[in-house]
Amino acid sequence: SAERDLAGRHVVVSAGGTREPLDPVRYLGNRSSGKQGYALARTAVARGARVTLIEANTGLPDPAGADVVRVGTAVQLREAVLKAAADADAVVMAAAVADFRPETYAAGKIKKKDGEEPAPLTLVRNPDILAEISAERARPDQVVVGFAAETDDVLANGRLKLRRKGCDLLVVNEVGERKTFGSEENEAVVLGADGSETPVPYGPKEALADTVWDLVGPRLVRPDTL
Ligand code: C5P
Repeated sequence: SAERDLAGRHVVVSAGGTREPLDPVRYLGNRSSGKQGYALARTAVARGARVTLIEANTGLPDPAGADVVRVGTAVQLREAVLKAAADADAVVMAAAVADFRPETYAAGKIKKKDGEEPAPLTLVRNPDILAEISAERARPDQVVVGFAAETDDVLANGRLKLRRKGCDLLVVNEVGERKTFGSEENEAVVLGADGSETPVPYGPKEALADTVWDLVGPRLVRPDTL
């Protein structure tokens, strides 16, 4: 990977996991730590990019040199990503976005009442941000990368997801003991819409991040061909 090969580029990275509030004290969340997204932001800064990091509920310190935007829910994440993506060369959706949110938000804390069954929880779909930005590229030359955590038929499901989402690259991780959620390490296969398959051996999340930028770089249109 050439040093500072992303100089003059604006990249957008989402990191962490959305929280979908039920009432003022409760939410539906997920186990994303944000570490992979932060590694992507740090490595992009090191390679010379202007980086907008959109973070959801990570509690991690801001990476030096990145512009950080904080969001909570999927709807807020969508707004922030669409805004930042308007002039971005690449968008990497590393955040774990809740597929569903509670239909209603209770302004007061939901109380249990003696002898009463709990009220059923009704969920509604969240927007699919990755599918949306892939379908409606803010720039025709924009490179869009998604992540997918799978537990079985990892590659076959990854290929289907890549097609369904319409992104250029999909980083497929297998959810396991020592990898993906909360861990410092990861192991993945990066699938390309062009049919390419790049295995990334078990190792630090920085190494996977650098491989992602290695694959994004050649897909960026050079300034003089724009
Ligand atoms: O469909 P699935 O949630 O497995 O897809 C994961 C990928 O899609 C991730 O890149 C995630 O950031 C993105 N995603 C999204 N909006 C959603 C759900 C997932 O952008 N509502």
